Amino acid sequence: MVKVIQKEMKVQLPRVFRELLTAKARYKMFYGGRAGGKSYAFADALLTLATSRKLLIACVREVQNSIKDSVYKLIADRIAFYQLDEYRLYEDKIVNLKNKSKFIFKGILEHNAQNIKSLEGVDICWCEEAQKISERAWQILDPTIRKPNAEIWLSLNREEENDPVWKALALHPDNDTIVRKVNYYDNPYCPDNMKRLALKMKNENYGEYLHVWEGEPRLSADNHLIGREEVYRALENDIKVNNDTAPLIIGVDVARFGDDKTAICYRRGRQVLKFKTFQKLDVVQVAHLIGAIIAEDKPARVCIDVGGLGAGVYDVLVANGLAEYIVAVNFGERADNAERYVNRRAEMWARVAQWLTSPLPVSLPEFSGLVEDLTAPLKMFDALGRLQLEPKAEIKKRLGRSTDVADALALTFAIQNAEYLLKIPHPSGGDFVDDSVYL
Ligand SMILES: Nc1ncnc2c1ncn2[C@@H]1O[C@H](COP(=O)(O)OP(=O)(O)OP(=O)(O)O)[C@@H](O)[C@H]1O
Ligand SMILES: [Mg+2]
Repeated sequence: MVKVIQKEMKVQLPRVFRELLTAKARYKMFYGGRAGGKSYAFADALLTLATSRKLLIACVREVQNSIKDSVYKLIADRIAFYQLDEYRLYEDKIVNLKNKSKFIFKGILEHNAQNIKSLEGVDICWCEEAQKISERAWQILDPTIRKPNAEIWLSLNREEENDPVWKALALHPDNDTIVRKVNYYDNPYCPDNMKRLALKMKNENYGEYLHVWEGEPRLSADNHLIGREEVYRALENDIKVNNDTAPLIIGVDVARFGDDKTAICYRRGRQVLKFKTFQKLDVVQVAHLIGAIIAEDKPARVCIDVGGLGAGVYDVLVANGLAEYIVAVNFGERADNAERYVNRRAEMWARVAQWLTSPLPVSLPEFSGLVEDLTAPLKMFDALGRLQLEPKAEIKKRLGRSTDVADALALTFAIQNAEYLLKIPHPSGGDFVDDSVYL
């Protein structure tokens, strides 16, 4: 808790919100689930500031049909709670009679010329429920708040992955932007009945809990690169691909941290033959394992993730004279098609998605965690419209583990042009040929 002592007012602002008062930034965004204390903290912080010096404060939302839609009542309640006698409540504004600070309440889209003008002198603009602000409203509001050092505060519970203000500010925050997450367990005032509701939902419906109480955006099928149905379809199919028409490609995702696994995937064209995982192997052990696989299974290529410890595995394999079999892949490197994919990882995963939805059937073997892994990553697009996958660290937070097995499958697509292959079936049968045979 931070004690903020003003001449006339002393508030106990939960620590997570202290930057509302202390940080220098144009945009201050606090997001999270229900009962995080956002509304109270914003009201208290604004009153603290408006009591200490003359400020024009606008409390805005997309549309405000009546003052009842606004945070007017909350601010009035907090004024009463702190017994701030110098504030006078008018029908549509609240004024500090001592220093002439003023709170006004506006709908952004009711933007006749006068309404917009009234916002130009604003010192702090509070967007409550900011997830509901449309792109159009944001484009009107942002440049209107133009006084030097003016601040825009945003409180929100994220709705979708791409809420407009989220996209505008939080996706790639700059130095002038603070983005903080705050949930009920960060709110020292959170009433017990709210905590009970949260825990109940946590047990009953974890996905919904993450949205309602932890501030995660709602997961909609559209946001995921790979849907469940196509994975289930591939699990049901049982295809035997002819050895002559499709070479064996092996993908190896080397464990990065102690709790990850080294995962290996064997794929021959439309058929994934098997997955294997290994725990706690060191670099030399993984290299020996791959050496044995090359000798025994005779893959055309082994694609190895060399982003982390895999680099060492690669070196050992090369030192052992196996370089011709090995393709070194760095997930972060430039994609073959850099206009469509932000990096190699996005491109390889997109090929998995295309493979799974190809008109020709494909098959996957059952493997523990495979469905969850494959369907985990959310897809996003960068400013250039290129496909980008949810960062590995974010997925790990949500899933509780890395998507090792699916990454191994993605690696089997490192060296082929899947779009080309999927469209042209092999003339001799139904199978398509990996273009790695042409390498
Ligand atoms: N300073 C405070 N003093 C007393 N109670 C508080 C204070 N701050 C928060 N609370 C309690 O915590 C509850 C949740 O706070 P608040 O409504 O500000 O959260 P929120 O993050 O805006 O959540 P929601 O998304 O549900 O609007 C309040 O209903 C109130 O009971
Ligand atoms: Mg609120």
